[in-house]
Amino acid sequence: MVAALVPAAHAQQAAATDGAGAGVAHPELWPKREQRIAPDPAMEKRIDQLLAAMSLEQKVGQIVQGDIASTTPDDVRRYHLGSVLNGGNSDPGGRYNAPAKDWLALADAFYEASMVPSGNLPRIPIMWGSDAVHGHNNVVGATLFPHNIGLGAARDPELLRSIGAVTAKEMRVTGLDWTFAPTLAIVRDDRWGRTYEGFGEAPEIAASYAAPLIEGLQGKIGDKDWLRGPHIIATAKHFLGDGGTYGGKDQGDTRISEAGLINTFSAPYIPALNAGVQSVMVSFSSWNGTKMHGNQSLLTGVMKQRWGFDGFLVGDWNGHAQVSGCTATDCVQAAKAGLDMYMAPDSWKALWQSTLAHARDGSLPMARLDDAVRRILRVKLRAGLFEAGKPSSRPFGGQFDLLGSAEHRAVARQAVRESLVLLKNAGQLLPLKPMSNVLVAGDGADNLTKQTGGWTLSWQGTGTKPADFPHAQSIWSGIAEEVKAAGGSATLSADGSFTKRPDVAIVVFGEDPYAEFQGDRPDVGFDDARSLTLLRRLKGAGVPTVAVFLSGRAMWVNPFLNAADAFVAAWLPGSEGGGIADVLFGKADFRGTLPYSWPRSSDQTAVNVGDKDYNPLFPYGFGLKYGQPGDLAPLPEARATVAAADPGVLYAAGRPGAGRQLLLGAPGALSTNPGPELIDARPADHHAQEDSVRLHWTGAGPAMAAIAGDTPVNLTRESNGGLAVELEFRVDAAPTADVSLLMQCSGEKCGGGFPVGSMFKAVQAGQWSRLAIPLHCFEKAGVDMSKVTVPIALSTSGAMTVTLSSARIVSPVGPVLTCN
Ligand code: BGC
Ligand code: BGC
Repeated sequence: MVAALVPAAHAQQAAATDGAGAGVAHPELWPKREQRIAPDPAMEKRIDQLLAAMSLEQKVGQIVQGDIASTTPDDVRRYHLGSVLNGGNSDPGGRYNAPAKDWLALADAFYEASMVPSGNLPRIPIMWGSDAVHGHNNVVGATLFPHNIGLGAARDPELLRSIGAVTAKEMRVTGLDWTFAPTLAIVRDDRWGRTYEGFGEAPEIAASYAAPLIEGLQGKIGDKDWLRGPHIIATAKHFLGDGGTYGGKDQGDTRISEAGLINTFSAPYIPALNAGVQSVMVSFSSWNGTKMHGNQSLLTGVMKQRWGFDGFLVGDWNGHAQVSGCTATDCVQAAKAGLDMYMAPDSWKALWQSTLAHARDGSLPMARLDDAVRRILRVKLRAGLFEAGKPSSRPFGGQFDLLGSAEHRAVARQAVRESLVLLKNAGQLLPLKPMSNVLVAGDGADNLTKQTGGWTLSWQGTGTKPADFPHAQSIWSGIAEEVKAAGGSATLSADGSFTKRPDVAIVVFGEDPYAEFQGDRPDVGFDDARSLTLLRRLKGAGVPTVAVFLSGRAMWVNPFLNAADAFVAAWLPGSEGGGIADVLFGKADFRGTLPYSWPRSSDQTAVNVGDKDYNPLFPYGFGLKYGQPGDLAPLPEARATVAAADPGVLYAAGRPGAGRQLLLGAPGALSTNPGPELIDARPADHHAQEDSVRLHWTGAGPAMAAIAGDTPVNLTRESNGGLAVELEFRVDAAPTADVSLLMQCSGEKCGGGFPVGSMFKAVQAGQWSRLAIPLHCFEKAGVDMSKVTVPIALSTSGAMTVTLSSARIVSPVGPVLTCN
């Protein structure tokens, strides 16, 4: 099943060279590819002329990309930036649910800034890149497709072409011309938080999808509307080996022979390049210890020389900073290795300066700089940007009714239907008869946030509300529509309670949204006591149950498989919940088959087709159809691994998170049990008995309550990614003096914080409140995020009583403290 791209002799040779140079590729061992883009001497001549007329500042600007949260149109004008991006948490006006017209207006503003005349310098139109990874998912109202894991289950390359076409058109509506998709990761360890961004564990699915999807997005090479009109520029990412990291760790190290790298991970890149993908994003990860952003043998040797790629290589989010000897603001090494455009979201200005200095003193050779700029200009010329006018004036610009149009949603609904995988169908319970009395339960039933997953309006996909999805349908609503149309009755009851016994219950549950490293897990066991109890209770009451499981990976769910009569893996279906009803009620049969092997135990984290001793619960490619025997013998329910602690938990369930302690006392003399003179801690109740702590400051002297870690933790990525410390608390007795909210780091006087006394005085006594303090606020207040010892502390010299229910590092959902 795994495409054999390397002749055996080469494979041996490659294996023999392993260890010779860690992470150094031998391009001559790599397969060749076709070159379908005809050379265009006139275009190259035009590039020569542009290069001759451009200033050095302009050239450097082309290869540096800022994020819209840290870059204004005026910055684009002054620094001649060649492109911007919006990261997962960056939106026009800083509003995660900014209306589509704001995106278009900002696209126009950036474009116009890039075209403001400046002496005799040529004007170079800007590009804007965005993670449209399951539809144009950053924009309210867009059609949201199932994440790639579900599309992988569909095994339908032509569907991917239609999805690409819809996504491109919806991006055009908002004036954007470049997507950071498709992800061509081959995911080998399902603990990885980006498993759902991959089409599957074997290269064949991504290899068969790459070309039709890219052609859907970009159009076909040679056609008049290639990269123009309804089309945009695509990005194959993340090059290379992103899904093969050791332990499924995000941004980790892929330890594999060169032959393994070629066979497993490079396979989809050949069809992607043959289909004309114009940009390739370099992976955060390493190959045998060498960071991809610094790997000349792969970036230049394989990608550009062996494969003849003539588009450009864009970096990942400050990914260059991880190259040895580099920082986010200074890294000539990456450009020398072959990177053409630095993704420098918040670091662009200082990086621009240092890169300019390198260009001036020759440490960045002019030939390399010119080559990088040439590649970027080539893509811009191919896309017709120089003649396109401002984004709102281009085809489809401002046609907002295309976002989530009926036609586009029909494609997404088809994708949902095709993505579902039936794992169990005891007694042929499915298909259900719509003319029946159906109970719909579970916390995922009417929950668009959960159903759409990460990379949806916000980076982690959290913090959204139903009103943010004007064109979407929840799973519940799709079922209700189908059942009511047939004359049956459907009832939504999240907790599964009922008065009249239903004919059948559909229970929708699963993982909460996550993205990137936030989704990394220590194992693949799924725990959800509430949903399990619910399934068991319904079964106990003699109600046949259908489990619809929402997840970003294949997971060990034996207790749930036992408790349900039918079990459907629905992945992360996106905006069209109705597609699930279509299949459950038999309008369509199941088509999906597993793109990832389903684990037999919670510690079977890296089971992949082709493994020696391959022994999953359900193999890769498994999926029942209607009419096939679907009974399943009872499965063992003991969890092989203990559910591990969530590192984001600082305090919850009445105790500090794993590896953390609650310390009390005079600042500088904290201990777990200081005596009650200054401060006193007692168990208190919120949602459950003793799930909180009541902290009483006596006012006899300055005192502090601190949650301290056993070892310093590095919260840099969390801070950059917009995460916050979220507190759930109640003020029982208002403070009599000012109060400080603090974070501390290792080293003398390392720390910082804010006064919160007036806020604590303002909240209503006795009422539960939530407050999120973005980590970057602490950073601004002087905390060194790379070595945090006390992630949160409260201190006052007056008297006060506060009950703390939880403290977590999360993508905030409630009110957020603003800092400048
Ligand atoms: C991710 C990329 C993404 C980029 C921009 C990075 O953290 O790894 O996949 O395109 O951010 O949001
Ligand atoms: C991530 C990006 C993401 C951004 C959110 C970064 O840490 O790597 O992918 O878009 O945070 O602002």
